[in-house]
Parts: sequence; C-alpha cells; structure tokens
Amino acid sequence: MVSTDALTIAIPKGALYADSAARLRAAGVDVPADPGRKLLVETTDGARVLFLRPTDVPAYVEFGAADCGIVGADVLWETERSVCELADLGFGACRLVVAARRVDRFHEGAQLPTFLRVATKFEKSAEAFFAERDLPVQIIKLHGSVELGPLVGLADLIVDLVATGNTLREHDLVVVNEIAASTARFVVNSVRFRAKYKALTNLLERLDSQVRT
Ligand code: PRP
Repeated sequence: MVSTDALTIAIPKGALYADSAARLRAAGVDVPADPGRKLLVETTDGARVLFLRPTDVPAYVEFGAADCGIVGADVLWETERSVCELADLGFGACRLVVAARRVDRFHEGAQLPTFLRVATKFEKSAEAFFAERDLPVQIIKLHGSVELGPLVGLADLIVDLVATGNTLREHDLVVVNEIAASTARFVVNSVRFRAKYKALTNLLERLDSQVRT
C-alpha cells in the first residue's frame, strides 16, 4: 500500500481531472472519478485531495497548503509561483500554438506582419514567442473561449492550446506556428519534499512507474 499518510495532494479539475484521478487511484489513492461540487476529500488511506482550478494548483503547492500536485506544463510556463517539478506524468498531451483564420493565409509561410493583435490566456509564452522573433504585437489577455477572437475581429492571431484540434477546426482556424508541447507534471513544495520525503517519493514511484510500463 502506498504511504500517502498526511499527504495533501492538489489536482486540477477540467481536462486533466479524469486522467489525474485514474492515475492516483492506480497508485493507491482513493480519488473519486467525479468530485461533483466537492472541493476536497479525505481518502480512505488518510490522504487529502484538493480539487482546484488548474491555474491555482501552483499557489497551493508553493504555500504548502498542498504537499504536491498534478498540473499541466502549460500552467507552469505562465505561473509566478515557485514549485519543484519532479516528473512528467505523460498524459494530458497538448500543444501551445499560434493560430489564425484560414482565410487570412498566415499559415502559408510568409513573414507575419508587425503590430498584429494576439488574443491569449498564455500572455508570458506569447510575449516570449513574438519577442524572440522581433515581431512587435499587441497581446490581449483573455480567460477562455480564445478561438472566438479572430472570428469577431478582436484579434488577428491566437496563442492557445490544441489537444484534439476540434476547437480550431470547428472555427475554421489553422495552426501558424507551434510554440511548445505540454503534458501533466507532478510538482512538490520543496520544503515539504524534504519533510515528507518518504511519502512523496513513494507516491511518485507509484505514479511514475505507470508511465514507464
Ligand atoms: C482548451 C484550449 C482550447 C481547447 C483545445 O480550452 O484553450 O480552447 O481546450 O482542445 P481541442 O484541441 O481538443 O479542441 P478549455 O477547454 O480549457 O476552454 P476555455 O479556454 O474556453 O475555458
């Protein structure tokens, strides 16, 4: 039995939830398949599991409200919070891309014009991508439904995640550039990692061994 005594584990609701819960269950932590409206549960083996907005996982781990957590690499790229990334769990694969309307033909390889408007939830990653290319753009920070931006004249480009590609296809948007690939990561609070070394490495081995098999 995995020693999860007294571990508090932060997991993201949303796209990574089902795989996170399944992976934890297989590792011996009794996480519900659907948390409903619950914000936390105490599992039968004494662990506590917190159900969070994905972007909030790093804050809970940095401040020690959770000992460890599961979070997408895409969240870590953008966060100011300091957490220690211990493992790539392999699931939740998606890509951060620049995309545009097909009719604008930005995907056909010509140099992008300057001063385009870019709608995104990924402000830091988008800024870094265009700065590296010396391409001045205006970034418009959004919190969701980013694909709408180019359709209604808010933005010329979006920087957003693509998993199945369905959302882009449904809105007749196409990938212009790939920026990075993301998967779910296991993160810990570095002080807690020393204090609860045995329980955390035990849990990580259980989670990680499933990646390799
Ligand atoms: C994410 C992402 C894309 C979509 C990509 O959005 O920002 O919109 O998923 O997935 P797909 O390639 O499989 O279609 P999310 O579901 O988090 O919704 P929101 O950004 O609108 O809140």
